[in-house]
Parts: sequence; C-alpha cells; structure tokens
Amino acid sequence: MQQEQATAQGTRRAPEPPIHGPEGFEGMRRAGRLTAEALDLLMEATQPGVTTEALDKLAYEFAMDHGAYPASLLYRGYPKSICTSINHVVCHGIPNDKPLREGDIVNLDICLILDGWHGDSSRMAYVGEVPRKAQRLCEITYEALMRGVAAVKPGGSTNDIGRAIQTYAESERCSVVRDFCGHGLGRTYHDAPTILHYVEASYDVPFKPGQFFTVEPMINLGRPAVKVLGDGWTAVTRDRSLSAQFEHTVGVTETGVEIFTISPKGLHQPVNPAA
Ligand code: MF3
Ligand code: CO
Repeated sequence: MQQEQATAQGTRRAPEPPIHGPEGFEGMRRAGRLTAEALDLLMEATQPGVTTEALDKLAYEFAMDHGAYPASLLYRGYPKSICTSINHVVCHGIPNDKPLREGDIVNLDICLILDGWHGDSSRMAYVGEVPRKAQRLCEITYEALMRGVAAVKPGGSTNDIGRAIQTYAESERCSVVRDFCGHGLGRTYHDAPTILHYVEASYDVPFKPGQFFTVEPMINLGRPAVKVLGDGWTAVTRDRSLSAQFEHTVGVTETGVEIFTISPKGLHQPVNPAA
C-alpha cells in the first residue's frame, strides 16, 4: 500500500493494531492457503505470449470457483483482480492485453477474501528464460522477504523487519523502495500496523501475539525512487532499473511467526528453464 495512506492509518485513525484470537488464525490460514493456491496457478500459467489480462481472468475465475472475492477489484477504483508488475514496474501494474515476452520478470500480486478474512501475497514469475541480473534481483528479494519474516517475534518491533531487509538488500548493492509498505490486515484489507521495509526511528510498533500483517519488500537494482504513471496506479522506478517484490501474510504467535500464504506446491521462487 501507499505510504502516506499507511502513516495516516497508523498514527491518526487506528494506532493500535487489532489482536486476533484462534478463530482469526483459523480464518487467515484458510484465506492464506487459497491465495497461495491461486498464485501457484498463476505461476504455472505465466509463459511467453500470455497476456496479463488472461492471468487476471484466471485469478477472477479461481476466486469465484472457491467462494472467494479478489480484494483489489474496485478497491479505490482499481479495475482488476490482480496486479501484474513487469520489469521496471515496482507495483500496482494493471493487467492488459499485451503479451508477456521471453526474459520479462513479473510480480503477480493477489489478495483473496474468504469468509471475510484477507490473504495477501505476491511472487515473481519468470517469462521463459530471464537474464542473470534479473534472476539475481528476484533471489535477493525473496531472501529479503524471508529475513524480514524471520525477524518477527513477541518482544521485538516493526523496525526489526525493516532492519533485516534493508541491511541485507543494501549489502547486495540493491535499494529498498520507501513509497510503499506492508500493512496490517484481517477482516479489513489495510489496517495498522504499517510495515516499513527499512529502518525508521520515528515509527516503531511492538509485536504482540495475534497481530496479522503483510511483509512485502520492493527491491530495486538501481535507486529507490519511484513515480506513479498517468493511470494513477502503475508505479515505476524513476531510473527505469529492474524492481522485484515478494509478499507473505503472517501472524505473530506466542513464540514467533506463522506464515499464512505458504505455496502448497512449493512454487515460491521462480526457476529458469534448464539450459
Ligand atoms: N499488495 C498490495 C497492497 O496491499 C496490492 C494493492 S492492490 C490495489 O497495497 F488495488 F491497490 F492495487
Ligand atoms: Co499487500
């Protein structure tokens, strides 16, 4: 989500992140699993020549077939069921009728609402065989997500996530996008706390068991600056460098963290076709 919106939610409207009980965890497990299954389907369907509109249709039909609804559809006027962000698009790319091209990397982002609970996740997919530097960026971004998730446990606070991600990404000579962040969710799509993917001393929320939120770092090969195109959604890197993103929905447990959006097929990271 966009950061100004998040900060407004974080500081003015909903300073206290909601604490959920066992029925919340049950609901999030089901919504998260369905979201992960949808991404498995989308990952397998991503091929050269396929349009992002075709992927969007697949996602919409999957949601309808499983009694779910795509949270992004008509959200603040967003027209589609998924976001498809290709190459230098950072996030919120709108599916269209242009065929994917061999060598593209594309982020597939979907949030499914099941029985009122939101499961939000995104992964990178390779379109055919992708260049080594694009592959490297995707690997670094997945590792950054998992380091951020691993930093979640009671006694810590949201800056532990930002520190883990920023330290690692910058050590790999990549940059962390500042303008978009993770967010609390549950029965609503965007809630407190805001999850920044870099360290921000002025905003730090303690982790408590029962909090649900996303971790969704956007990592660039070049500079962190982004701009939003005239459609009001598509965010691109200002320097047109490649950008990647992975996202999980997680819950804080008594001892650590539970990931709700694990891929049943183990398709978290894309792979280049064997040479
Ligand atoms: N995972 C993104 C977010 O939470 C997806 C946004 S969907 C859109 O911000 F509708 F806002 F584009
Ligand atoms: Co999200």
